[in-house]
Amino acid sequence: MVDALLSGNPELRQQAYDWAEKNAKTDKVTTIRATGSRSTCGRAAEPVLRGSASNTPRGPPGWGKIRRTPAPHSSKGTTMQQRTLGRQGLTVSAIGYGAMGLHLAYGPSDEQEGVATIRRAYELGVTFFDTAELYGWGENEKVVGRAVRDFRDDVVIATKFGFTRDYGLDSRPEHIREVLDNSLRFLGVDYIDVFYQHRVDPAAPIEDVAGAVKELIDAGKVKYFGLSEAGSETLRRAHAVQPVSVLQTEYSLFERDAEELFPTLEELGIGFVAYSPLGRGFLTGTVKPAAEYDETDMRRTDARWQPGNYEKNLDAVRRLGHLAATKGATVSQLALAWLLAKEEYIVPIPGTRSVERVEENVAAADLTLTDADLFTIGTILPGGGYGERYGAGSLPNWI
Ligand SMILES: NC(=O)c1ccc[n+]([C@@H]2O[C@H](COP(=O)([O-])OP(=O)(O)OC[C@H]3O[C@@H](n4cnc5c(N)ncnc54)[C@H](OP(=O)(O)O)[C@@H]3O)[C@@H](O)[C@H]2O)c1
Repeated sequence: MVDALLSGNPELRQQAYDWAEKNAKTDKVTTIRATGSRSTCGRAAEPVLRGSASNTPRGPPGWGKIRRTPAPHSSKGTTMQQRTLGRQGLTVSAIGYGAMGLHLAYGPSDEQEGVATIRRAYELGVTFFDTAELYGWGENEKVVGRAVRDFRDDVVIATKFGFTRDYGLDSRPEHIREVLDNSLRFLGVDYIDVFYQHRVDPAAPIEDVAGAVKELIDAGKVKYFGLSEAGSETLRRAHAVQPVSVLQTEYSLFERDAEELFPTLEELGIGFVAYSPLGRGFLTGTVKPAAEYDETDMRRTDARWQPGNYEKNLDAVRRLGHLAATKGATVSQLALAWLLAKEEYIVPIPGTRSVERVEENVAAADLTLTDADLFTIGTILPGGGYGERYGAGSLPNWI
């Protein structure tokens, strides 16, 4: 359904709108580098086990005492590695957190558990939190803002503009400014770290969009400019007006198309945020057939879950799971470690509504993949998974 929300097809968008309304809960590469130690390269594999229950004392649900601890199962007790995105100084934890699932796409969720998950992520070293106006029209931003309010200045908050309430596109400068004011209010902050255009709007010249964000940066309301699902030409034109720090696009062991944009990112010095890095949950070993998901879960209609594709994807994940097990890791951790090993300017933002799963995902930063591991992964999924990531007419058009 989310693909329909993001579709250029009005009918699909209307269906998606109805669905959402119904379910709303209320220099070159060298300059784009990882900073600090990077445990996914150059040292022996360390066993990484599945996340266990938090050892952090918690009071009322969702409001635990915040205590920064190393990721569990990191035998070296290291803190999270940092990565630099772009050339403007944006530095974030190697693994971020995506909050979309708290309000969109994957069925019902519990807000308190969401807050607890975000706070646990921070305890484990995550400093990069992703939300959007689209994710509940302020509801998701409110939850993220509430969760991080004790440590707001220690973290990077990314949000996105560019949709209308009926899921059309609107990146006119006046709309961008309106969304920014709303986002500041919903998040309860006085600046946004990364302000992304969610989808390229063919009706709004990208130079005007970049110019509007530049003004917000000059005014101190925004720190960095990002684009989502944009193509090379748009990146170049935007970058010429206001340097783009980061491109966010779907990228995972299942979805490789974004690789065609990497040369442009490297040339311009733009970082990359991999969204849906766990293949919307398929690359976790916990999937079930499409019909068994909640009615509000987009995976009921996702092509990767449909008969014919589902079995082949399941088999690939089973084989990945065997490899992960030899390393004392889970398939989710293998999928995230693969992204980290791919390029040093990539930061995945897995989404989960569960404290235990965020612990598991964060521990992937300490999983080392050898060349032999990468080769094996390449033989299992040489070109990605089976089934399109978005439905007919909904695939973002990279312009
Ligand atoms: N720019 C864009 O257009 C765009 C589009 C989509 C997403 N995003 C961003 O990217 C973020 C991540 O993408 P995503 O949430 O779509 O997909 P994802 O991270 O690939 O997968 C999320 C799904 O995996 C499950 N999961 C996560 N960790 C797990 C684990 N260790 N074991 C088992 N299941 C696990 C989650 O379930 P539970 O929640 O039940 O744990 C959820 O159903 C979003 O939150 C959003 O911020 C951006």
